[in-house]
Amino acid sequence: MTPDKAISIGDLKRVARRRLPKIIFDYIEGGAEDEAGIVRNEQRLRDILLVPRYLRDVSTPAQGVEILGQSFARPFGIAPTGMAAIAYADADLHLAKAAASAGAPFILSGASNSSIEKIAAVHPGAWYQIYLPKSEHIAEDLLKRMEVAGLSTLVVTVDVPAHSKRERSIRAGWVRPYKPTLAATLEAALHPAWVVRYLRDGLPYLENWQAYAETGASAMDVTGIFAREVPAIQTWDRLKRIREQWPGKLVVKGILHPQDALDAVAAGCDGIIVSNHGGRQFDRSPAPVEVFPAIHKAVGEATTLMLDSGITRGSDVVAAFCLGARMTFVGRATLYGVAAFGRAGADRALAILGREIELALSQIGCPSISELDESYLQHGNASASMTSAT
Ligand SMILES: Cc1cc2nc3c(=O)[nH]c(=O)nc-3n(C[C@H](O)[C@H](O)[C@H](O)COP(=O)(O)O)c2cc1C
Repeated sequence: MTPDKAISIGDLKRVARRRLPKIIFDYIEGGAEDEAGIVRNEQRLRDILLVPRYLRDVSTPAQGVEILGQSFARPFGIAPTGMAAIAYADADLHLAKAAASAGAPFILSGASNSSIEKIAAVHPGAWYQIYLPKSEHIAEDLLKRMEVAGLSTLVVTVDVPAHSKRERSIRAGWVRPYKPTLAATLEAALHPAWVVRYLRDGLPYLENWQAYAETGASAMDVTGIFAREVPAIQTWDRLKRIREQWPGKLVVKGILHPQDALDAVAAGCDGIIVSNHGGRQFDRSPAPVEVFPAIHKAVGEATTLMLDSGITRGSDVVAAFCLGARMTFVGRATLYGVAAFGRAGADRALAILGREIELALSQIGCPSISELDESYLQHGNASASMTSAT
């Protein structure tokens, strides 16, 4: 299949599954424990029904949004995904370039392979996500590097208080110190293009973290330093200190409780990404879309509310905006694209979602993404009962 023949995110996922060793595909697709959270994330989004309104002029539905002092041409962006280059060489760079050319936000992961400086050069409007490390001087240095590189928005991910239990990866040996089982290694041999690249390039570096390792440290040594620093105990006090240190926009990612959202606003956060990490952290957390209405009700317009987890269709983005989201993000959808076809696959994933949003807006008779509200939701459907949930 060529990228242009992919007509859905599901098509890109099928190609990625074929091209990647199972152990790597499972790293992307997998979630915590029984992976019920992944199913719930997608299902709860699909449960939201949108009621079409007809006889309106929707010839060119507008998708542009303005948030956090930036204008974007798309109402969705690319969520931070660590170790993306294990799926395709320079994946972070391909994703950032694709987002820049689509006018979409890109969040560089705190466990990225490409450096802050390289990403800023290809997407000056990119955001950087940090996992607050145990050593405060490393956090300070990363913030300084962001500022020097001209990045405006810091995203603090708070939903990793401890390692998650991803059983696919544990069984296959894809956890530090990365000793794949014999079965996983033999299966990988069925994907020669990936194996040749891995044998040539080895494990990709966490480039941002090389600065905190000794000169000549191997990629494995650098991941060791990262693993010693993260996860660290994170508290509201630490977040407040970050607020004092960081002069730019501050977004907190991984909030699921209305009171935490209120506390984030009180701590001075400019934005909140309601997220359960794509079901990768805690299998019993609710789908973000289930708790979103209660969070929206609690904080109102005091902060910019965004959402990720489970988005695979443009109509998922439209549904999230009807609930009050001002931006959405995808993690796996664009990773499948880049894993399947590199840059062209990332472009394709964004184009598919963009086109589906255009169609969904036309179908429901809404001329602009910024005009979406609860009036497009089916009265009494899942979202209505979610509104009263706290
Ligand atoms: C392979 C992979 C790696 C991820 N790495 C990070 C990360 O480094 N930092 C982070 O905040 N979230 C990370 N996430 C979570 C995403 O940012 C996002 O919340 C999630 O993927 C959204 O769900 P979706 O994949 O269903 O779109 C990762 C997700 C995946 C699939």
